[in-house]
Amino acid sequence: MTNPLHTEHLHDVLIIGSGAAGLTLALKLDPSLRVAVLSKATLSDASTYYAQGGVAAVMDETDSTDAHIADTLIAGAGLCHEDAVKFTVENGPEAIRWLIEQGVSFTLDADEQPHLTREGGHSHRRIIHAADATGRAISTTLVQRVKECKNVELMENRVAVDLITAEKTGLPGENRVLGAYVLNTASGEVEVFRAKFVAVATGGASKAYLYTTNPDIATGDGVAMAWRAGCRVANMEFNQFHPTCLYHPQAKNFLITEAMRGEGAYLRLPSGERFMPRFDERAELAPRDIVARAIDYEMKRLGIRCVYLDISHKPAEFITSHFPNIYRKCLEFGIDITKEPIPVVPAAHFTCGGVMVDHHSRTDIPNLYAIGETSFTGLHGANRMASNSLLECFVYAMSAAKDIQEKLAQQPEPPVCKPWDASQVRNPDEDVMILHSWEELRRFMWDYVGIVRTDKRLARALHRVELLQREIQEYYSNYIISTNLIELRNLVLVAELIIKCALLRKESRGLHYTLDYPELAEEVHDSILTPPSSQE
Ligand code: FAD
Ligand code: SIN
Repeated sequence: MTNPLHTEHLHDVLIIGSGAAGLTLALKLDPSLRVAVLSKATLSDASTYYAQGGVAAVMDETDSTDAHIADTLIAGAGLCHEDAVKFTVENGPEAIRWLIEQGVSFTLDADEQPHLTREGGHSHRRIIHAADATGRAISTTLVQRVKECKNVELMENRVAVDLITAEKTGLPGENRVLGAYVLNTASGEVEVFRAKFVAVATGGASKAYLYTTNPDIATGDGVAMAWRAGCRVANMEFNQFHPTCLYHPQAKNFLITEAMRGEGAYLRLPSGERFMPRFDERAELAPRDIVARAIDYEMKRLGIRCVYLDISHKPAEFITSHFPNIYRKCLEFGIDITKEPIPVVPAAHFTCGGVMVDHHSRTDIPNLYAIGETSFTGLHGANRMASNSLLECFVYAMSAAKDIQEKLAQQPEPPVCKPWDASQVRNPDEDVMILHSWEELRRFMWDYVGIVRTDKRLARALHRVELLQREIQEYYSNYIISTNLIELRNLVLVAELIIKCALLRKESRGLHYTLDYPELAEEVHDSILTPPSSQE
């Protein structure tokens, strides 16, 4: 079937993603630039909107940059890139000041200064927050600011399918990114977006797992597109499991913030026993990998479906003022957190690995940037410390904006690109394949590539991924594409990258725990994968 439509867009900068990273980049670029920001669904449909705890930064004179750096390095289990940690932490206070200038209303203390809460791994109170809905405050404010920018086109319901590069198009000379093919889900057309610079800011890939705290958009599209375009990815085995996701048959992906443990909540077994002190001297405030593993261990040992997070020993007024959203949400499910403990389980939460970038967020392909959870900056090492992720989004988006601005004058307009070829595809006849593959993938990733791994489980998972890939590729080549198919194709690729990175790591470190190699190896290395097309 030939597609008679051919819509083309031209911008200086194409930003794929409207979370903290994408919106910050859009706002930091000079207003003379023509900018497009794409969102797969609505503008606020992003992990950013759901962030609860806050943003980590040194804002108090009793705290120090050195302490924030040291805590991040400890949480990262020896694998953080020290230069990336220093770069992020040093730029943290500037990012917070910028957010306040944009109008984000953070919770204030009695002296009208940002109130600082505490989370696992942090030796000081250093989490700036808006009660327990920090992401909502940040997202709504930044969306509002971007809407006021006349130079920025905000486009919802646009799903980027693949990046367009000079090399893939057969253009002679140095490779560079030229734009992207993007599905307009309203019209069904795959449009061409041409741009001098492209930034992938598409968030993480935790939807690869059956249970996750993430919204539906988290299907690793940026990692998959950048990989297919020829970028290296690193450390995908470090998928973080958040210890406390609400366990209730009607609740979907609802997080119970780590700040609740920061403010004194205990983790308990059904018997009421507080078990974390048996696992780590920091108890409930140990880094996330340790807490999630301890819960997983107790659930398997006792054959129980959840453990309990209990803050009911604190005054009711303290609980409802610090955690108003969680209080309301739990009450909807019949749980009064001022009186009873909350049933919780670990769930996939954050992708520590991603597209390899430098301090300017540059990828391996000229003019292509990766920012936010899609990227691998080296900040998180083997385990991200709480509330360092939003910080990374702001700091690296700001740095990318400066770099784009400096390089802009030398960039020619991108050449005309071929329209999307839909001449060989037909209407899908068996979409059950998509649903089935989606469920199968997320189930075996949970069972075989989850909190505790073995080489045998990883090999089993890889075998299944390879089978799924063949089927999905066949479907993709023959049928008209849809959001579900695009996401499935990306997710299965990202699952392969996660498993391959995990197989490279013959040790247990941070979030990667394997029964076959339970010790830390002496040699410290990143798991770096290079796409086949880029290998010499
Ligand atoms: P996102 O905010 O996820 O945005 C991704 C954007 O990309 C979306 O707009 C989406 O529509 C778009 N997109 C994706 N694919 C495509 C495509 N193919 N085409 C077009 N658009 C696409 N971190 C902290 O530091 N502090 C916290 O308190 C905190 N709490 C959290 C609570 C929850 C429940 C969750 C899920 C995460 C939390 N995190 C927290 C992690 C943090 O929120 C995320 O890492 C961060 O928001 C990621 O921002 P981002 O801009 O990279 O991506
Ligand atoms: C939370 O509020 O527990 C999430 C914080 C984070 O992921 O950094």
